Amino acid sequence: MIIQNNNTFHLQGRNISYIISVNSAGDVVHVFFGQKLRNKEYSGTEKNQLGLVAYCENGVTLDGVCQEYPSYGYNDLRNPAYSVKNKDGNSISHLKYRGYNIKENYTPQIQGMPSIFAGDKSAQTLELTLVDDTVGVEVVLSYTVFDEYDVILRSAEFINISNSNVELNSAYSASIDISKGTYDLIYFPGAWTREREFVRCGITQGMKFDISNARGISHCINPFIMVTEKNADEDNGDVYGFSLIYSGNHSSMVECDQYGNIRIQQGINPFMFKRVLGSGESFTTPQCVMCYSESGIGGLSRELHDVYRENLCRSKWAHKDRPILINNWEATYFDFTEEKLISIAKQAKEVGIELFVLDDGWFGKRNDDLRSLGDWVVNPEKLPSGIDGLAKRINEEGLKFGLWFEPEMVNPDSDLYRAHPDWAISVPGRTPALSRHQLILDLSRDEVCDYVINAVCNILKSANIEYVKWDMNRPMTDMPYEGYNHDYTLGFYKIMDAITGAFPNVLFEGCSSGGGRFDAGVLAYMPQIWTSDNSDAVARLKIQYSTSMGYPVSAISAHVTAVPNHQNGRVTSLKMRGDTAYAGVFGYELDITKMSGKELDEIKQQIEMNKQLRTLMRTGDFYRILSPYETNYCSWEMVSKDKTDVFFYAAKILSTTNTVEARIRLKGLEPEADYIDIAAGKVYGGDELMYYGIEPEFESCDFASYTMILKKNNT
Ligand code: DGJ
Repeated sequence: MIIQNNNTFHLQGRNISYIISVNSAGDVVHVFFGQKLRNKEYSGTEKNQLGLVAYCENGVTLDGVCQEYPSYGYNDLRNPAYSVKNKDGNSISHLKYRGYNIKENYTPQIQGMPSIFAGDKSAQTLELTLVDDTVGVEVVLSYTVFDEYDVILRSAEFINISNSNVELNSAYSASIDISKGTYDLIYFPGAWTREREFVRCGITQGMKFDISNARGISHCINPFIMVTEKNADEDNGDVYGFSLIYSGNHSSMVECDQYGNIRIQQGINPFMFKRVLGSGESFTTPQCVMCYSESGIGGLSRELHDVYRENLCRSKWAHKDRPILINNWEATYFDFTEEKLISIAKQAKEVGIELFVLDDGWFGKRNDDLRSLGDWVVNPEKLPSGIDGLAKRINEEGLKFGLWFEPEMVNPDSDLYRAHPDWAISVPGRTPALSRHQLILDLSRDEVCDYVINAVCNILKSANIEYVKWDMNRPMTDMPYEGYNHDYTLGFYKIMDAITGAFPNVLFEGCSSGGGRFDAGVLAYMPQIWTSDNSDAVARLKIQYSTSMGYPVSAISAHVTAVPNHQNGRVTSLKMRGDTAYAGVFGYELDITKMSGKELDEIKQQIEMNKQLRTLMRTGDFYRILSPYETNYCSWEMVSKDKTDVFFYAAKILSTTNTVEARIRLKGLEPEADYIDIAAGKVYGGDELMYYGIEPEFESCDFASYTMILKKNNT
């Protein structure tokens, strides 16, 4: 609901209020973002809306005033939300309020980029128009609020209303100032095989964090951050989340000013960004999802999970249980024959696996990673039956068939590159940098996007392919101009729209050298994303734990792989590998033909267990209980929305002696209900599970895991 009262706008979500006011000087001031306020007409105080420092001409300064979209060069000296260079060559700007528009039942769909859709939810959008007449630019700030959610969607549109060019050098999707308080910042840096590590630090006066990525892919920094009250934890306290629906270079800026106010901005990374707007032209930023919870980090995560599961991903598969897959990558790498693949599929079928995925190496002369990316033609020596024939054979074995692609790339040693060397990103006079022996196709060009769309669609049309793994294995270099990365990203989305639109029944999985493109932009097209090439169960505790803070378990692909683990050499039990992968989209990636009878029996049981759990894991409320970042344990739990079904997981990382075992208290249950442990038949009170807790019986060894399925006892 949006309530307009003179110069104040009160946006009310399910449990939130977001209040904006226009002060007497025409500046758009941020009043409040937090728990829902009953007073619909609340407008803050004049004191908060005009600064008090008297050295300015009229005794008014914006420095220290909380604002919605601050300008540069006026008397707010903090980081601006945007930067425009005018025809005189300076970047001074000051936006003033011009008017508003409230749109009922309206959720903006940003041109060329993925956005949240309303579906069956009821949404209203407030548009505030701001103008800088001297520069000749109009900015429309968009705010969408849902009756059913605690999020505000934000974006900004810039329109050149002058007669000459305007150069846009930065344009955040959202900017907000939270007034003085003691806050922490949580963000998710990482690297290949250790994506999205949890980092929490205090925000103190004078600090300015630019949590940004200019590498094209984002192993190193994820476009999701949280700002929390100092004492907020998983279950209590104010937490603000900012998540960008964007797969290009991004920035989350957090600054603490001289008065202790916290400015938070999120959007396209201003580094190497530029857009020249001709007269009448416009530019719209990607969408930022701002979320607030008074129930700690866990409350915020569950809210984002719901929004992303219900109102972001357009795939039919977002609302369907995903098939349990086996992928041949770590089983064979490039070295496979058709018969080897069939033998894997046969054995997989016997244990209950549902989908066989053929990874890299099926096309051109790709027997290593030196060549053939771009040549999407089957290698007949490896696959004499072709993709169509192989898919049929896999289907005859009783499995679905899926295929790997890396369509954004080209190897210099490929027919595609020999025919179109200019299609790879490069700049005149320089040899472009190779990474994994490959170059990136220039997706800013329509003919290149068309090639990619046709190449992938032709293969998908040619055989019964029911799943696609869309990989992208290198960072971006040699970008020919400022703003190039954004044009590339638009090309990527254009391709995604075309291909996922043409094949609505195909399940798409995102991937980027492991989890290098795990963002809400990808999630809009592909309901699941390969989380990390590191599938060691202990490493996965941290990776999955922190990934789940911003993204639903239904998006987190998790495979059981061989030991010693191919990335870090660690040996963990098959039990722990399976138990850990249940909190994700479950699958296998190992040579199942080499497993013993005992192991195959255990895999059968895991598959049975996953079939029992997967609807719950896709639709329930996820609670993190013990953090592997802080303890020798990791524990999480999924509870169905009706609080009937529960999956509890705990792991003890290193074995200990002569210590008292952790008593773990469950969360989110009905205290007055009874719950039965399905396997043991033991009945617990919900209150007992939540307030007293349980002591999992861990095996006495390193890397031990424990699971329990509980059902509410209705008798
Ligand atoms: C990187 C992915 O993360 C792996 O799973 C695998 O598909 C390889 N690429 C194939 O080259």
